[in-house]
Formats: sequence, C-alpha cells, structure tokens
Amino acid sequence: MSIILGIETSCDETAAAVVRDGAEVLSNVISSQIDIHRIYGGVVPEIASRHHLDLIIQVVDEALATAGVKLNDLDAIAVTYGPGLVGALLVGISAAKGLSWASGIPLIGVNHIEGHIAANYISSDIRLAPPYICLVVSGGHSHIVKVLDFDKFEVLGRTRDDAAGEAFDKVARTIGLGYPGGPLIDKAAQSGNSSAIQFPRVKFEGDCLDFSFSGVKTAVINYIHNLEQKGEAIPVSDVAASFQKAVVDVLTDNTISAAIRTCSSDIAIAGGVASNSLLRSEMTRKAGLKGIRVSYPAPVYCTDNAAMIAVAGHYKFLRREVAGSDLNAVPGLKLF
Ligand code: KG4
Ligand code: ZN
Repeated sequence: MSIILGIETSCDETAAAVVRDGAEVLSNVISSQIDIHRIYGGVVPEIASRHHLDLIIQVVDEALATAGVKLNDLDAIAVTYGPGLVGALLVGISAAKGLSWASGIPLIGVNHIEGHIAANYISSDIRLAPPYICLVVSGGHSHIVKVLDFDKFEVLGRTRDDAAGEAFDKVARTIGLGYPGGPLIDKAAQSGNSSAIQFPRVKFEGDCLDFSFSGVKTAVINYIHNLEQKGEAIPVSDVAASFQKAVVDVLTDNTISAAIRTCSSDIAIAGGVASNSLLRSEMTRKAGLKGIRVSYPAPVYCTDNAAMIAVAGHYKFLRREVAGSDLNAVPGLKLF
C-alpha cells in the first residue's frame, strides 16, 4: 500500500497528483502554460520557470485537497528530476525537497520518460505488466523500449534526428495550424485524405529499428513552398492527414517488428504523441493481426502530468530508492 504525491515541472505544465498503490489516481492537477507560450510558437524556458514558481504551491495544495489527504498521509513525494528544462525542473525539485524536509516524508527522484511509460499502469481494462515493448513518443523523444521490469529498460530503436512530436509541431507551424501542433494536426487530419500526398517513410537497412523524421518534415515544407510559389491554396487537411499517416506507418511498423522479434505479446504506447488518434487505432489494428495486445493511457495521462510521476515513484518506493537532499536537476537525463 502506498499514497504518493507526484510533482512534474519539466517543461510547460505545472502538475501535481496523488496516486494510491501505483494505479488509482486520487487527484491529477495540471496547470498548462500553453496559452502563454503560444504567442512565441514554442516554450520559452525562462517564462516557463517563472510560471512554475507562481503556481507550484497552489497546484500541490489543490492536488492534496482534491485527493482528501494531508501531507502526513503520504508515504513519499516523487518528483521529476530530468530530462527537461533546467530552470523548470529546479522549481519542482525545490518544492518537493522543501515538503520532504519539513515533513520527514521520503523524497524520490523520477526520470520523466520512465514516468511516461509508467502511465500505462494507471488503472484501466488491461492490466499491463513487464515484459512488453513500449513506444515512447513525445516532444523530445522517440524510442522503442523493451520494458524488462518496472525499473529495467533496453532501447531497441530511437530517432536519429527529430522526435515524432517535434515533427508534428514543426509541420503544424509550416501549414499554419499553430502551436502545439500534434493535437491540431490530429484534428485537421480527420477531414483530410491520408493518401492524397505520398510523403517519405524512412526505413533503415537490415534489422535497424531507428527512426528519422527530418525527411518527412522537409518533404512537407518543400511541398508547401512549391504550392506557394505557384500561388495555389494549401490543402491543409490533406497535408495533415498524409503527413500523420506517414509518421504513424513508420512508428507502428517498427514497434510491431520489435515486438515480433522479442516474442512480446504486449505493446504499450506512451508520451504526448500516444494520444494521437490514428497512432492508437493503427497500432491496435496492425498488432491485433499478429495477435499482439496494445494498451495506452487515457489522453490526459499521455501528455505531461504528475500522476505518471507518482506511479513511477510508487515502484521506486517499493524498492526503497529514496533520494537525498542533494537531488539535482539533470536536464539531459537518459533512461539507461
Ligand atoms: O509528452 P509531452 O506532453 O511532452 C514532452 O515530454 O515532450 O509531449 C508533447 C508532444 C508535443 O510535440 C505535441 O505536439 C505532441 O506531444 N502531441 C501530439 C498529440 N497530442 C500531443 N502529437 C500527435 N497527436 C496528438 N493528438
Ligand atoms: Zn513528457
């Protein structure tokens, strides 16, 4: 049994959540700064840190109040310590350390990517447990990971250039949809034809499961420039649908190959891009043909949140992996 407070401030969401036994979310408070950063077309690190500072205490208070728990009811306080923006991470870490020091409750440092993967353990119809293959696709990461145990991972494939979410964001900007691009492309694609334009799908030679998304991104940019030079209108929905299909084809094919190669009967998806509707349906459909089960978190647990940090913290708590007061931000933290 555990009751864990999770704190997440690695990018532009100030978030706190309380989770029981690593699965039952008692509260999940997320204060998003998207509207503030939208006018700049992306996250401005200094502005993000300042807003985290303004919000962190009230977000934590709200998470505790909504969950109906007091600080002393907690077994541990789990906080993201990397990867992410250093100034943003430090706000969450300092808040968590302060609370831990004042109450004597153990502090746990969580890797943000491990948190995204752990979001799959939040109560749902499918009770997922290692080993399985996880596709982690966010604004900064695109990894195919073999999850050997709750704390043991092996990378089987990774992007050689842009992360999938980064490609979504850049293409959305190019076709005039705005920021953040993923959800806007997902929406525009609903009314588009995904076979209207043939964008490239990069496959590396042999058994390699790596990704490359800079080619498809450049192909979209060239396609748009061409139309602009000819003074023709941009078929936004068709471009969105065709681009999305190209990315999803590669993500699903490589992940399913990884599952087949490692004889895994389960695939999970995680990270902001895991909320993409086509990725969810195509992964389920294609993997289903091979007898592989697919699970993914509810959309609110795919994009940045603190419930996933509390869940990952739960498994560290079970192993008594407690952090000291010297816990520091590690902006470039790796999973392995
Ligand atoms: O995991 P996340 O919230 O933050 C990082 O850790 O990076 O992921 C954010 C990324 C952004 O690039 C955003 O455009 C993308 O996830 N995203 C989506 C969708 N929702 C968010 N991409 C495609 N389709 C979506 N529905
Ligand atoms: Zn994230």
